Amino acid sequence: MPKINENFLKMPASYLFTEVGQRVNAFKTANPDKKIIRMDIGDIKFPLPAVAVEAIKKAADEQLDAATFRGYGPEQGYEFLREAIRDNDFRARGIDIATDEIFISDGAKSDTGNIGDIFSADNRVAVTDPAYPVYVDTNAMAGRAGEINANGRWSKLTYLPCNAENGFIPPLPSIKVDMIYLCYPNNPTGATLTRAQLAEWVNYARKSSSIILFDAAYEAFISEEDVPHSIFEIDGAKEVAIEFRSFSKTAGFTGTRCGYTVIPKQVIARDEYGNNVLLNSLWNRRQSTKFNGTAYVVQRAAEAIYSPEGKQQVKNLIDFYKENAKLIRYGLKRVGFTVFGGINAPYIWAKTPNGERSWDFFDYLLEEKNIVVTPGSGFGSCGEGYIRLSAFGKKEDTNEAMLRLV
Ligand code: MLT
Repeated sequence: MPKINENFLKMPASYLFTEVGQRVNAFKTANPDKKIIRMDIGDIKFPLPAVAVEAIKKAADEQLDAATFRGYGPEQGYEFLREAIRDNDFRARGIDIATDEIFISDGAKSDTGNIGDIFSADNRVAVTDPAYPVYVDTNAMAGRAGEINANGRWSKLTYLPCNAENGFIPPLPSIKVDMIYLCYPNNPTGATLTRAQLAEWVNYARKSSSIILFDAAYEAFISEEDVPHSIFEIDGAKEVAIEFRSFSKTAGFTGTRCGYTVIPKQVIARDEYGNNVLLNSLWNRRQSTKFNGTAYVVQRAAEAIYSPEGKQQVKNLIDFYKENAKLIRYGLKRVGFTVFGGINAPYIWAKTPNGERSWDFFDYLLEEKNIVVTPGSGFGSCGEGYIRLSAFGKKEDTNEAMLRLV
């Protein structure tokens, strides 16, 4: 009989958003007449930008003709998309990234989860608390997290508490760590790091020989000047950082699936004999074996959003969701909530009004107001007593939800 990976048995019963979905479905079954407004998972509600759909149709038509049909593509992504990314997301900001440092994938969730494959199970991992649960769960599955306690904390992870007192800005680790997950603009708190604050992390990583795994999935929501869109805007970051990007929240690809990871060739780690190894080469090796590339039609759709019309259509979507975020901030404040985020991010992080526990307040909102939020404690123990609201909704639903709270 084969043995299982025992680490999976240590995991909490379900993934955060699965648990939320199950509770919502149970409520819906018991209350089929109620109109539920979902402000939980950051799933977009608007259709894809027209340029993306046109590109998909054109690319689909190419598949009817033997001359233009595509079979297996490059595991790392087509050059046309890697060039569009290099030029628009990096060169346009004065950052020099080569196309072979960009790896196209089916999204940042997969990449932030899979990146652990190229790191030793002995590495010490630091995560912010709260954090996007994929960072913690995938390290636990790989055996890097140790044992989980009653508060949901793992014995071998180094937690960097982010709370109202420190403005949701993580402190530098107090012990030596090897891998550090940072997500800015932050999911779930909506907090950002300024250039100077991110430079402190890059300097820390350089001094302590650690690697920063930087999730920039929400960069398109940045409104403020002094907030970097990429960690590679910071001097020295190309030696110590890997960056993850997503088309889900920018161009609405949550169902279409496309993202990418940037691994500069200067980023190195050590093998057991102390030799330097390029992480770019290791990831390339991993992807060539485990991944057959993102669908051609999807990569054409992603390329299309870098056209002038595509950029405008994406901007319209982001502006729309930012307007929703403003409505939520205003609506919550009006009824007395203390709120954070929602300015450079599509998420609003709110304290429960009377110190209720996150899941209790989740249940109250679902049952009494028929509004679904994400309980803050699902992102880590420092999220206890908070809820997260997503601005990726329709305007009428967002307005109605805020009215229901009055
Ligand atoms: C979230 O709501 O945190 C995100 O939508 C989840 C994800 O991107 O996987």
